[in-house]
Amino acid sequence: MTDPAQDLTTLVDAARADIRACATIEQLEQVRVHLLGKKGVITEQLKSLGAMDAETRKSAGARINEAKSSVAAALDARRAQLDAEQLAAQLAGDTLDVTLPGRGQSIGGLHPITRVRRRIEQIFRGAGFAIADGPEIEDDWHNFEALNIPANHPARAMHDTFYFPDGRLLRTHTSPVQIRVLQQQPPPVRVIVPGRVYRMDSDMTHTPMFHQVEGLVIDEGITFANLKAVLHGFMQELFEKEVKMRLRPSYFPFTEPSAEVDISCVACGGSGCRVCKTTGWLEVAGCGVVHPNVLRAVNVDPERYTGFAFGMGIDRLTMLRYNVGDIRMYFENDLRFLRQFA
Ligand code: FA5
Ligand code: MG
Repeated sequence: MTDPAQDLTTLVDAARADIRACATIEQLEQVRVHLLGKKGVITEQLKSLGAMDAETRKSAGARINEAKSSVAAALDARRAQLDAEQLAAQLAGDTLDVTLPGRGQSIGGLHPITRVRRRIEQIFRGAGFAIADGPEIEDDWHNFEALNIPANHPARAMHDTFYFPDGRLLRTHTSPVQIRVLQQQPPPVRVIVPGRVYRMDSDMTHTPMFHQVEGLVIDEGITFANLKAVLHGFMQELFEKEVKMRLRPSYFPFTEPSAEVDISCVACGGSGCRVCKTTGWLEVAGCGVVHPNVLRAVNVDPERYTGFAFGMGIDRLTMLRYNVGDIRMYFENDLRFLRQFA
């Protein structure tokens, strides 16, 4: 009869040797099952305890458990070693060139309307205009009253205004900033005012939020001829070519005389289409000589000072510059559309 304690020591030594000899994680797993699995040699040892008397079982049990944990520790240690070796081999084998450019990266671009707004600002700054701004939430006085549009004036119907419950409103044009500038600064004045405006309006050439740039020049001896020269010079610079522009007599309560500015339609080249409603022209601005009542509202003497004002649709100018037939595409944020401008 062999000494069971001696047997166990031999078994543990053999197990250690087997574990050391494992070259792969798969081999190690086989050895683990052979030793500690359901039918493993050490598991069998534990099962044999049942057949022993109480006294022997106690000491044998302690020895077997000790053997089991030392084998388990050896397995864990070898496993950690093999894992590390595998990782090192993988890293050495992978040829990863970190100096190559990344894939799928694309650079964002400015929105086409932002680009045209900045260009407009640059052109007017070059001509000596300052840039002003005002609030998008306006009161009735600045948006209408001071611009010679009293309550119940029929011109209010042209503006399809969004009102707040307290009577304030989303400005329907940038013209209220004419008033705000003249309240702050005596003539001479030469400013442009780019900004967002709002109207209940939507079709191929109208959106409920759009952009205008107001222009205002007030000084002694300013006439309609100055207005026409400034607008024409601006259009040449903006489009970088000779563009067909016409002034069509119109009506605004805050200018007299008044005109609307049309540019020959880019979608059809002037022959007539859906965009220009078969007229061959696209309206891009309203303008005129500042009405004396407007100057009076801000305590400027209309006998001494005159001036002109205009309000251009930036989105319309952007349509023309990039030859886009439907203004609503600018606000749908479809990347396939926007990427073309990046
Ligand atoms: C005005 O808003 C006047 N305040 C312009 C003005 C300023 C006249 C100073 C005289 C002196 P109107 O409603 O026509 O005018 O709008 C001016 C321009 O804004 C239009 O010519 C057009 O280019 C653009 N526009 C008007 N409504 C929309 C809309 N819903 N969507 C896009 N652009 C629009
Ligand atoms: Mg108009």
